[in-house]
Order: sequence, then structure tokens, then C-alpha cells
Amino acid sequence: MASETAPVRLVDYRVPDFLIDTVELDFHLDPKATQVKSRLAVRPNTEGVADLTLVGDELKLVSVTLDGKPLEAGAYNATSDSLVIRNVPSAPFTLEVEVEIDPSTNTKLMGLYRTGAAYCTQCEAEGFRRITYFLDRPDVLAVYTTRIEALKAEAPVLLANGNPQQSGDIPGTDRHFAIWHDPFPKPSYLFALVAGDLGVITDRFTTMSGRDVELRIYCEHGKEERCAYAMNALKRSMRWDETAFGREYDLDIFVIVAVSDFNMGAMENKGLNVFNDKYVLADPDTATDTDFANVEGVIAHEYFHNWTGNRITCRDWFQLCLKEGLTVFRDQEFSSDMRSRPVKRIADVRTLQARQFPEDAGPLAHPVRPEIYYEINNFYTATVYEKGAEIVRMLKTILGEDGFRKGMDLYFDRHDGQAVTIEDFLSAFHDATGVDLAQFHLWYSQSGTPEVVARGSYDPKQKTYSLSLKQNCPPTPGQTTKKPMHIPLRFGLVGPNGDDLSFSDATGARVEDNVIHLTEAEQTVVFSGVSSLPVPSLIRGFSAPVRLSVDLSPSDLLFLLRTDSDPFNRWQAAQTFAIRDLVARTGAKVRGEALDTNEPFIDALGEVAEADALEPAFRAQILQLPGEADIAREIGRNVDPDAIARARAELRISMAGRIGGRLAVLFDSLQSKTAFSTDAASAGRRALANAALDLMVANRDRAAIERVVARYRNADNMTDRLGALSIMAHAPLDERLPALADFEERYRNDPLVLDKWFALEASVPAPETLDRVRALMEHPAFSPSNPNRIRALIGSFASGNQTQFNRADGAGYDFLIDFLRDLDRRNPQTTARLLISFRSWRALETGRRNRAEAALKRLDAVGNLSTDARDIVARMLA
Ligand code: BES
Ligand code: ZN
Repeated sequence: MASETAPVRLVDYRVPDFLIDTVELDFHLDPKATQVKSRLAVRPNTEGVADLTLVGDELKLVSVTLDGKPLEAGAYNATSDSLVIRNVPSAPFTLEVEVEIDPSTNTKLMGLYRTGAAYCTQCEAEGFRRITYFLDRPDVLAVYTTRIEALKAEAPVLLANGNPQQSGDIPGTDRHFAIWHDPFPKPSYLFALVAGDLGVITDRFTTMSGRDVELRIYCEHGKEERCAYAMNALKRSMRWDETAFGREYDLDIFVIVAVSDFNMGAMENKGLNVFNDKYVLADPDTATDTDFANVEGVIAHEYFHNWTGNRITCRDWFQLCLKEGLTVFRDQEFSSDMRSRPVKRIADVRTLQARQFPEDAGPLAHPVRPEIYYEINNFYTATVYEKGAEIVRMLKTILGEDGFRKGMDLYFDRHDGQAVTIEDFLSAFHDATGVDLAQFHLWYSQSGTPEVVARGSYDPKQKTYSLSLKQNCPPTPGQTTKKPMHIPLRFGLVGPNGDDLSFSDATGARVEDNVIHLTEAEQTVVFSGVSSLPVPSLIRGFSAPVRLSVDLSPSDLLFLLRTDSDPFNRWQAAQTFAIRDLVARTGAKVRGEALDTNEPFIDALGEVAEADALEPAFRAQILQLPGEADIAREIGRNVDPDAIARARAELRISMAGRIGGRLAVLFDSLQSKTAFSTDAASAGRRALANAALDLMVANRDRAAIERVVARYRNADNMTDRLGALSIMAHAPLDERLPALADFEERYRNDPLVLDKWFALEASVPAPETLDRVRALMEHPAFSPSNPNRIRALIGSFASGNQTQFNRADGAGYDFLIDFLRDLDRRNPQTTARLLISFRSWRALETGRRNRAEAALKRLDAVGNLSTDARDIVARMLA
């Protein structure tokens, strides 16, 4: 079934016919009938347009006046999704509109809705139109003043964007009010309001120019202590943006609110960030080290949007990567500076390869800057975010540290207060540095992951090393042929003792500062003065988001794993080795054959794991084999998830057998005798201990299992406890059953912690799991309306349990489709996100592929799907 709604196209962009300079909002909050009055200062922006069309979404008009006069019935037309005012003046005018909305039935969590007993808003991308009729598009920038009135008892806290201006009781009533004013012009998607009975922690920050800023984090009463880490992360983010980018905060107050019902991770509303509570609340008893790192990263991300997104925003939603890709890049850099740069890089590349690469290789592939969409909510994708961040990183690689900073400075200077495009962004770098970025622009318009094939040959007589490089980008939906792109390849020619060999000259491509600039479909770079046969170490630090194929022998890979000066490529060598083994092993399983164990590889992993000179967090990454989904992606077609799982289990058993003893010694040596700390070094030791233990239990070694059970029982922090529990669940070990029951009991009153339990239950690779998931939907802590609960239980099953979601009988697919069909009536956005679990269905073996297709077609046949779900299903089946 085709999409019923008309698409939006980049080529159709037109400046708005009207602009709105100021917005005065007045909210009379009531759970079932909230009155919203808006007074808009409107000004025509193009010639000769008679009618003003404002958009709405499920609105009920109460009244409308123009320049203070009520409009006659024939002078306007109002429906729930638009308000057209006929023949408006050609000079600026004031429009006053009153609507009524019902926050209590707003299950989409867009617009004004309730979370617990509080009121909160989410407007990006198109939620403001669910609050009042407006020009709800990002290129309409206005100064907002917001008055909120509510019952004092119900909502003692009243928050909106900007600075607080006035507040007080409403005499003779049990109500009160607050007025907030935001002097910075902003698009409507950055509007926010929060009201309720909330706990708070406060702090202060002095900006680099000496301005004093009040900081507040609001949360559910009783959870205040769990906000301390987020506050600390906020202050570090504010300082970092000053030193790294020269960007200072601009209001008198910065407020974060943690809410428990939220479709996304968090939202950068001006001066009033609203967060999913899982990205705010963290203490050692309830949060893992990964949770702490996520809180730090998300707090930073939303804060950094204040400049990249808010002060400079997007002209239209096609430019989403302008703010998201750039801000992801900035938060990644921040986290790298706070922790270990190579370890952060490895983690980010893992995410990119696990989320973006399959997107780029499947039916949902789209350019980082799309040119058409049916539903903008579905374009908050790994491609826009993660690949968008990689493009900014490549820009920095190409321009160098100084050139990049000059370009950013010019961008901030030139476009402060504007709504701009990718072209504006690139022009700033071009104008600041003189570097031609015309070819580089293709990264924004061409979808698909380029493949780079490298072949090296050494001439010992001439002392030359030739590297032939080819690039090719496979066809993607709507794009059959592609042009060669500008791919910056950071590299080294590693000599026999592990040091990079020098070369006197390089021809065939621009080679500068250890970067080869690949710009043509085929290029051969000839290095002269190379003293001996090198092993090429290419795409160091993952300098470009491409798939690399290079003819490295197994011993070359082990050599790089042991000696490369680039830690990222040491990890990459281990991954490449493992994935080659696992793909071959899976093939052998399918054919019923056996494959020998590669002992040198396992020994090398053991050696690196023990290498005290390397940081533990890095060693933990080395020990983590590619996951089942990674192997499936590498195989690419005719995928049999059961064969993959058996192959991976077999390699793990060999590893446990061969180096389990060494890992046990390592594990024991990592047991901390000092007090718990969240710092990156301590977290790294815990990660390494968990990674070692995870391998040690693979062959069901009794002593290892005892260690895991003891680690669970004796844990004094969530990383150790959950680490042990997930080892038991994933193995899976029988010991998991009492431990999972204990965990449930221990945290029965803590929904965020129980989410970890739901997620683990759903990811047990055993045939009974689907029934278990069904049963857990009846658990008192589960809620079919809370996105965190849904993602924990249903999302983990669909995206974190390869064998059980992809059951050969199709029951996993049918279960998910049935659930989503129901969820779609309440929350289309969350539905569409969960549907993405099907994105690689065409790569499955025939039986599963047919069952997945049948399930998708069943959903496609549903008449009243949301545009969100309809768009994804249509593209997935196209
Ligand atoms: N602007 C987004 C939040 C958003 C996304 C609102 C989609 C509406 C629709 C925010 O800045 C964001 O990107 N949040 C991420 C987390 C971030 C750390 C990448 C999220 O919510 O997943
Ligand atoms: Zn963002």
C-alpha cells in the first residue's frame, strides 16, 4: 500500500509568506481542558499573499481576533489541523487565538502532555502545532513570553523558556502564575513548558566573561540525589564549550527537567532542556558505568545545542544534520576529552557500524541530508546523527585543527540568530580556509556506505610502496549511480618493529599529515624511500565512514593487533580477524562442517588483555567479539541467525578453553580493594573484569560460574551486578533464574532499574523467551504507554535477541507486529522506531525472509496506520 500523505521535498522550499516577531502565550493549565491563548505579532514576508495559513494538530479553536477585533465567521476557517485567516492586512498585525487542548489524552507525547502528575511539552519537530495554531516551521524565529497559570497544589513549579520575569498568587483563588521571557528569537520547536510538583537541585556557574548563571535540575521528589552526576556533567559541558569552541551560555538560568514519559532521549528547548529520566538519574547503586557515560554525553549534547541548533538553527527539516550531526560530533569530542579518546572512538564506531551501516545498506537508506520525506519524525536516524557527525569529523581531518576552528568561528559569527542550510555551513569553512569543498558536499547528498578496496605492493629494489585504492558506493533507494567522494584516509606504513616507516615522497594523490586524500574512483599512491616491506594501517581512527577491504594476511592482522601505534586500528585488526573467522565458521555450520580453532589469534587476544601498559577499558574492547548482528551484517545475504549464534558460541568456547585460565588470573587481579569511583579508569577496570568473565563462562567452567555468581551477590555497584547478571542471562546459565528473581525483588520499586531487568529477560537466547516476554507484559511494573518500558522489554527482544526475534517459525515477527499495531494507535513515533528492527529482513534466509515479509504485509494492510508507521512499512516493502 502506498503512502497516502503527500511527501515534502527539499526542492519545494519557499521562504515563509509571513513572519512572526513575538509570541505571547498564556496557559491556563487543567488536566483535561487546558486553555492556550496566543498573541502573535505577524508581518507579511512576501508580496501579494492574502491569506494567512497557520497549522494545527488536534486543536479546538475557542476564539480568534485580529488587531483586537473578533473575526466574522466568513473571515477565517478553522479545522483541527489548520486555521486560515482570509485577506489579512499587508502591514504588520496582531493575531490573538485561543484554543483548548486535553493533555490527559495526549498519548503521542507530542505537544502538551502529562508525565506522572506533571505537565510537560515536546515540540520538535512538529509538536508546537498541537499546542496552538502557528507557522510551525524552523525558519520562523520569534521572541517568546510565556505566562503559565495552574493550581498551586497541583503545580507548585511553573517553568518555560528563558529568564523568569514575574510570579505570584492569583488573589482569591488557589491558583498561581509565572511569566518567563526568552529574549533570543527561536523557532517553535524549541518552545517548552513544564509544570508540576517536582524536586530540584541547584548550582551556579560563572561563564568565561564572568556572568553568573543559575543551574537547576528538576526530578521526581525523592530522586534529587541521583541528579548530582548530571549537574556535574552540565558544569563540565559548559566549561568545555568555552574552551573548545569559545561558546558561552547566554541566559541567567539553565534548567533541566527529568521526566519518565519521553519518546526520545532528551530535548534541547532553549534554557529548559527536557530529559528522559534515564539520561539524568544516576548513582552507583542504580546506574552502570555505561549509564554514567550516557548521562554525561546526553547532558553535553543538549547543552551544546544551545549554539549548534538554537542560536543557529535549521532553515527546514532537511537540514536536520546541520544541528544533530554537528552536535553529536561535539558531544563525542567532549566525552573523548573527559575519558579515553581511543576507547570513546571505538565505542562510537561500534555504534555507527551497528546502527548506521545496516541502515545505509537496506531499504531505509537515505542521504545525510534527505531530499524527500513523508514523515519527518522518521528522519531522526543513525544516518543523520552518526554519519552526520562523521562528516564533521572528516571536515576537521581535511582542514586540520586550526582550519576547522576558524570555520566554526566564522559559522557562529556569521549566522548567529539565523536559520541556515548545509551550504551555509560548508561556505563558512570554505571562506575561512580557502579549501574547495565542492566534492566534499557529496557526503551530504549521496546515500550508501562507500567501499574502499586497497592493495599494496612493495618493490625492495626501488624502495617504493604502491598502494592502489578504489572507491565504489553501492546503489541505494533512489540513487543508482554515485560519484567518487573525497575520502580522507589517515594511515601509517608500519615497519617490522612496529614503528611507522617514513617515506620521502608520495605521488598519485594528495598526501599530507598522514592522510591520503582519495578523490577519484581509482588512484595509486606510490611512496618512495620506504626502507622495508610495510604493513599498511589504513583508516586510522576510522577517519572516514567507509567499508575498507585490504589484503592483509592473518599474520599481518595479528601484527597490527600487537603493534600498531594507532589503538583504534589495533582494535580494528582484532575485529577484522574475528569477523573473518566467524563468517567462515558460520558457513561451516550451515554446511555441517567443522572449522579449526585459530590458536594464534586467541593467544594474541589473551596477550593484549594482559598488557598492563594498555588501559583496561581498551583491553575490554579488544576482548569483545563482534556480536551476532555484526556477523549477520558482514554475511549480508541468506542469513541464518541460529548458525551465527552457534558459530559465535563455538569460538567463545575455544577461547575459554585456551585462555580461560589466564583470564581468571586477570579477573582476580582486577577486583577492587578501594572505594567505588565513577572515574573512567575505575570504570575501565570494571569493564575489563566483566569482559574477561563473560568469556570465561563460555565453556561452562565451574570456577568461572562461581565467580560470576559471587560477583552478582557481592556487587557494591550496578556495573558489577548487572554485568554478572547479563553474563548469566546471555550464556544463558541456569544460575540466571534465581539471580534474575533476586534482581526483580531488589529493585521492584525502581522502574529505571527494572528496565535493565526487562531488557535482560527479553534478551535471553532461549526458546522460552518469547513466552516470557509475553508474560512480562502483564508485570505490574510494565506499562504499555511508557516508552522506556516498551523499549526495555519489546525493543530489547526485537533488536537485542537475534535468535529469538528471528525464530524460524516467525513467531517473533508476528508478536512484534501485533504489539506495534496496537501501539500505533497510541504512540506512532515509538511504533515507527521499533519497526526498524525489521530493516534487514531482506538479508535473511528464505524461510525467515518470507515470514518477516508476511508479518510486514499484515501491518501494511491495516487501514488506519499512522503516517509514521505507514512511511516505514512502505519503504521497507518497496
Ligand atoms: N533534538 C533531539 C531530540 C529530538 C529528537 C526531538 C527527535 C524530537 C525528535 C535531541 O537533541 C537529541 O538528539 N537527542 C538524542 C540524544 C542525543 C544524545 C543524540 C535522543 O533523544 O535520542
Ligand atoms: Zn540533538
